[in-house]
Amino acid sequence: MEKMKKIAVLTSGGDAPGMNAAIRAVVRAGIANKLDVYGVLRGYKGLISNEFIKLKSTDVSKIIQTGGTILGTARSPEFREKEGRTKAFENLKANKIDGLVVIGGDGSFAGASLISREHNFPVIGIPGTIDNDLYGTDYTIGYDTALNNVVDAVDKIRDTASSHDRVFFVEVMGREAGFIALRSGIACGAEAILIPELDGQVDKLMTFLADQGKKKKSSIIMVAEGKKEGNTLEIARLVESKFPELDVRVSILGHIQRGGSPTAYDRVTASRMGVAAVDALLNDQRSIMVGIADNDITHVPLNKTVKLHKTVNPDLLDIIDLLI
Ligand code: F6P
Repeated sequence: MEKMKKIAVLTSGGDAPGMNAAIRAVVRAGIANKLDVYGVLRGYKGLISNEFIKLKSTDVSKIIQTGGTILGTARSPEFREKEGRTKAFENLKANKIDGLVVIGGDGSFAGASLISREHNFPVIGIPGTIDNDLYGTDYTIGYDTALNNVVDAVDKIRDTASSHDRVFFVEVMGREAGFIALRSGIACGAEAILIPELDGQVDKLMTFLADQGKKKKSSIIMVAEGKKEGNTLEIARLVESKFPELDVRVSILGHIQRGGSPTAYDRVTASRMGVAAVDALLNDQRSIMVGIADNDITHVPLNKTVKLHKTVNPDLLDIIDLLI
């Protein structure tokens, strides 16, 4: 096998705070190992349109504390097609790139796994998404910052909810998963947490509101955006119609959850994963994600991260029932 000389890194899918820390780590670990490191702009779109830039160590100075991604990101329908991936591979070869690091979520890893297998090309994934919904890793980059963003916002909502005796439905991101809602809901002391992984929660909420209405009037109901029993507005309307005496409001937190300076945890995790990704390329790994399990770096085949489904922590589910 030829010695690795040039590697490239890109960010793909929804941006996540801490992606810059991961880029910085890949660039600096690469250079420390005598590799040339290239950044690809705008994710797979830039891979297809040949947007490579050489990165020096100083190009990644003072970015560890910034949100977003200096390389830009995109969702690329073209890369879902074989033709798009072939074009991307041709550009990698034309730029003499020997290995690629993809920082992104499950959609990005699906593409990474395919280009790696179709062209026998080394691709290492770094899990970067606020959703934390990737199989094979306890944490994804950006999740911790998003949780703290939610906690910060909900603490403020709590002030006004208590002052007005209001029931607030707060919708958080997470796509089809409830990891953000579950953990931030516990951190905020939410009175109820509605997540896609659990069924029959809306009926339970009605019973809960009927009971708690006798005790206190203000509450926070955390709702994951992927809740299948109805969206946040529909559930809130149902509650209003059943309990006209309650003063109900809905707050959809939206993209504010994805922004801001990454937490120390996200910065350190991203730095560890970036270094591990370069190590993996140097050790001839071809199609894996560098994850984190029990605080250790792990290697998980990319196709497993795409095919298998991460489940919510049952201990956290028990906590909801006990503490609410
Ligand atoms: O995957 C990250 C995420 O923020 C999800 O939580 C959310 O459903 C989605 O991206 C929003 O995507 P976009 O920024 O493209 O609207």
